[in-house]
Amino acid sequence: MDKMIFKKCDDALDSTKVPQKELSNGRKVPTLGIGTFGSDRFSAEDIANSVLNALEIGYRLVDCASCYYNEKEIGEAFEAAFAGGLKREDVFVTSKLWNDKHNPEEVIPQIKKSIEDLKVGYIDCYFIHWPFANYHEPGCDVTSRAPNATPYDHHRLMSVYRELEKAVDLGLIKSIGTSNWTKAKMKLLLRDCRIKPVLNEMELHPHFQQEEFFNYLRGEGIQPIGFCPIGSPTRPDRDKTETDTCDIEDPVILKIAKAHNVHPAVICLKWAVRRGQIPIPFSIYRDQVLSNLASTIYDPLTDEEMDEISHIDKKCRLIKGQVFLWKDNQDWKDLWDEDGVIVDGRNID
Ligand SMILES: NC(=O)c1ccc[n+]([C@@H]2O[C@H](COP(=O)([O-])OP(=O)(O)OC[C@H]3O[C@@H](n4cnc5c(N)ncnc54)[C@H](OP(=O)(O)O)[C@@H]3O)[C@@H](O)[C@H]2O)c1
Repeated sequence: MDKMIFKKCDDALDSTKVPQKELSNGRKVPTLGIGTFGSDRFSAEDIANSVLNALEIGYRLVDCASCYYNEKEIGEAFEAAFAGGLKREDVFVTSKLWNDKHNPEEVIPQIKKSIEDLKVGYIDCYFIHWPFANYHEPGCDVTSRAPNATPYDHHRLMSVYRELEKAVDLGLIKSIGTSNWTKAKMKLLLRDCRIKPVLNEMELHPHFQQEEFFNYLRGEGIQPIGFCPIGSPTRPDRDKTETDTCDIEDPVILKIAKAHNVHPAVICLKWAVRRGQIPIPFSIYRDQVLSNLASTIYDPLTDEEMDEISHIDKKCRLIKGQVFLWKDNQDWKDLWDEDGVIVDGRNID
């Protein structure tokens, strides 16, 4: 990989104009960030270049994860940005614990590895990526199951969460986050944790608004951060099913995009920001990266447009998580506790 250089660019946005959210522990986070999951389409190097480009443009939130297999390369981008004058404290960096590291003794070493790979000194918010220890190989088919897959086990999960609490005490991470949680699992976590999670990363886009869970989280002082905010139009085929809908082809989104003279993707982001979640769109294309951040500063949606979009929820979950199931021929909905009960939950009392 060529040495990266952080450049001042004429079309950079003023990052201080991007609104911020204050988290329940008092820390501040920008209202939009850049995703770094390149799926099968882009190399780690492409994504690192995109992160550098995003930092140059004015992004100050970068959503990383060890299982995206690109933290070392993204670390080169951070190193270049800090050498070029960006202050560490002005960037909010996340990372996530992957499912094969749900063992207490592996958690802190894994956090230290992400810090070292990303070259950031500490992580602003560290997430548990999924509330299951069930691992799958990168790029595997949706029918694949981990050989030792188990249902949700609260004791095991809390033994992992306690290590995140220790990591806060040690100053390795500033805050804790959950990802792919459900209301039922969040209630248990809030019952038993010492340090509350400040962010919950969840799928959120106009066709999947998760209104009840979204409102519950906000009521508990947990800020939702929304993945697949554009409806992940180019996600891998293995993550597509026949009944999936497409946000950026929705007539309401198309109509509003025309009125604002922007791509429908940008309307999804404007909706997200005004609604109150933090979207983390992915792109490696400079014009898209720029217009995505600009969506937070200029030309917000009107009350009427917000209302219209609130009515196009199709309850269409795109990232169903089939590979984390623990039985053959199981319905993926078992992962999502839709009846408020944790399916096959272990050690929850
Ligand atoms: N916590 C989790 O379990 C989890 C799960 C999934 C994702 N994530 C995070 O969320 C991030 C975003 O999710 P995602 O990449 O799946 O979905 P997404 O952000 O909804 O969609 C990304 C795609 O949208 C298109 N796009 C982006 N900006 C655009 C613009 N201005 N105009 C037109 N098209 C635009 C691009 O497609 P083209 O490349 O074809 O132009 C891009 O690849 C990930 O990178 C990752 O950091 C987290």
